[in-house]
Amino acid sequence: MKTQAAIKQPLSQARAACTVIHGDSRKELEAFTGEVDLIVTSPPYADARRKHYDSVHPDKYVEWFMSFHEPFFNALKPTGSLVLNIKDKVVQGVRHRFVWETINALSTKGWYAIDDYIWHKTNPMPGRWPTRLSDGWEYCFHLSKSKRPFFNSNAVRKPIGSWVESRLKKLGENDLTRQNSANNSGFGRDISKWVDKKTVLPTNVISKALVGKNKGHPAVFPVDLPLFFIKLLSPENGLVVDPFAGSGTTGIASLSLGRQCVLIENNAQYCQEAIRRLREEAAAQRDELNQLQPTLFFVEAKKKN
Ligand SMILES: C[S@@+](CC[C@H](N)C(=O)[O-])C[C@H]1O[C@@H](n2cnc3c(N)ncnc32)[C@H](O)[C@@H]1O
Repeated sequence: MKTQAAIKQPLSQARAACTVIHGDSRKELEAFTGEVDLIVTSPPYADARRKHYDSVHPDKYVEWFMSFHEPFFNALKPTGSLVLNIKDKVVQGVRHRFVWETINALSTKGWYAIDDYIWHKTNPMPGRWPTRLSDGWEYCFHLSKSKRPFFNSNAVRKPIGSWVESRLKKLGENDLTRQNSANNSGFGRDISKWVDKKTVLPTNVISKALVGKNKGHPAVFPVDLPLFFIKLLSPENGLVVDPFAGSGTTGIASLSLGRQCVLIENNAQYCQEAIRRLREEAAAQRDELNQLQPTLFFVEAKKKN
């Protein structure tokens, strides 16, 4: 599936570079002031993954995250966006609201909360808890520097679905003009407007399956998640950054759409994993394209001194 996504872009336009930087994104982002179109990322969750990378206590999360506010804000262009995929946490049986508190704190510093997207996991982890059901979704907060960030909704249109064909075959008299709903709710519809339409805009609920296999990192998100936001919120040839890059999923999505990409990760092992995955993806694309293009991606690791 990932190969299919990767070859959507015509070859001649797919020449994009991805740089993997081993370092702290607060420092490394200084080199990109005012250049970035989109930051799309999944920061470490509070106290999660204690064994794998530095953990932050939920009570300290806002303070910790705010140390990234200036580096992120300064790196973005005026039309740029920040997408944070994050989930809150249950502490002693109750949902801790560090995520909401972080978004509120960012708003006081000048970020506009444009929308809250929901990533609906079509294959959630099963489980049983005394007071809760299995967790089937995560937030993706869309924040920006201006109220009118770059936004290309046409890029995420989806096929209208086969139900329309059968419904439109049976257009009655009432379908040819706008009809108000029978219960006087104020909603109305004009079915004839759907004739010849092939696509519709999606909602802000994104249904994607969890990544089943651990790809050398404990918290990988599906390629399709950053892919959706990169299409929606960054121009062609734009610059996409993931400042908590992990195993480089955002890089794979960016390159497949022909965007320039910078991945910053403070764990050397995960940087290596990101490079491995990006090379693997490049090789898969070359096979798919019958070796027409010898080097589709350029992946470099900038070593920390
Ligand atoms: C939730 S994971 C990201 C996983 C990624 N979305 C993927 O699909 O592989 C968060 C990552 O942020 C990294 N990290 C934490 N603090 C960082 C910092 N200050 N600078 C750069 N990376 C950092 C962690 O090492 C971890 O790999």
